Amino acid sequence: MTFGPVLGIETSCDETAVAVVQHGIVRGSRIATQVPIHLRFGGVVPEIAARNHLLTILPTLEAALDDAQLTPQQLGGLAVTHRPGLVGALLVGIQTARTLALAWHLPLVGIDHIEAHVWAAMLRPPKVEGSAWPKPSLPFLALAVSGGHTSLYRVEGPGSSILLGRTLDDAAGEAFDKFAKLAGLPYPGGPSVDQGSEGGDPHRFVLPRGMLGRDDAAFSFSGLKTAMRLKIEALRAEGQVLEGQLLKDLCASFQHAACEQLVRVTLRTARAHGLRHVVVAGGVAANRELRRQMGAACEAAGLRFWPVPMAYCTDNASMIAGLGEALLLAGRRDDPHSLDAVPTGLARRGTSA
Ligand code: KG4
Ligand code: ZN
Repeated sequence: MTFGPVLGIETSCDETAVAVVQHGIVRGSRIATQVPIHLRFGGVVPEIAARNHLLTILPTLEAALDDAQLTPQQLGGLAVTHRPGLVGALLVGIQTARTLALAWHLPLVGIDHIEAHVWAAMLRPPKVEGSAWPKPSLPFLALAVSGGHTSLYRVEGPGSSILLGRTLDDAAGEAFDKFAKLAGLPYPGGPSVDQGSEGGDPHRFVLPRGMLGRDDAAFSFSGLKTAMRLKIEALRAEGQVLEGQLLKDLCASFQHAACEQLVRVTLRTARAHGLRHVVVAGGVAANRELRRQMGAACEAAGLRFWPVPMAYCTDNASMIAGLGEALLLAGRRDDPHSLDAVPTGLARRGTSA
């Protein structure tokens, strides 16, 4: 079955993104980031996020169609993030997609943001020509690490994934963001820590790794976060200023400990479930230390490692359009009259389709 290009819309948090994907290839992609707007608040302000999505959604949509050199008449379908996310922000994308589906007579599918992060491993880089290009084989193990999620899934197909385990407390991205704030680094914390760790000694500070004595697929970052807070408070009490080599060493030590836990739990889950292909997806998958550690560990264990391409790790709409195309091809349709936001998401246990 073939299908016209699929337009994807993402407005679940602080990026207004629209992209067009066909045959798994990104034909056009635009992201209007709100990072500079939320920077001074040290985090995303939901109401401000929703208002800015309203301002940017239509110009972003037009720009993505222009990039793809397509008119609405040439599209085959629409996909929109409808869970999980900030409810006001989600509604902007959903209302836009519902209206366009009715006006342009296109099939519509609602997308789980986390599943889309993972399915981004299937996107084909625009420059790869020909019919064969390497992709992870189903079923694969996926580590989804974002600002709100740290979960392991057995992925069996588009819209069909089984939750194997998740964090018991903070998400990994949240831990990066909170540590960065404590250390005086700007929001969003993950990229700041990634950059700030360059030239730092990852072993200067002894930190808890978390979940060491267990054999399940659960994560925990609260112990590491508390250890960092106590360390920073002690350093400040000694009159030390968090800058220069000290700051680099703190960033490198935190990052190393956080990544080591992510790698260890992922590898033991792959072993326990006999899964040989490992996908790492979501904003934290952009972390260079995580990619390095996971790559080395997978190689040593004889596993295939599939980090999502850098451009598709943090929030984007290519991943929404990509999963949308796969779901529409599989026959999934949602009602444009009733598709609604699910702020907390449903993909907790069992299949999430
Ligand atoms: O997937 P994403 O863009 O949005 C959510 O769905 O949450 O992930 C955002 C999270 C933030 O916590 C951000 O600090 C983190 O991903 N992040 C990183 C890096 N880039 C983004 N964390 C560590 N290293 C990075 N390079
Ligand atoms: Zn995300």
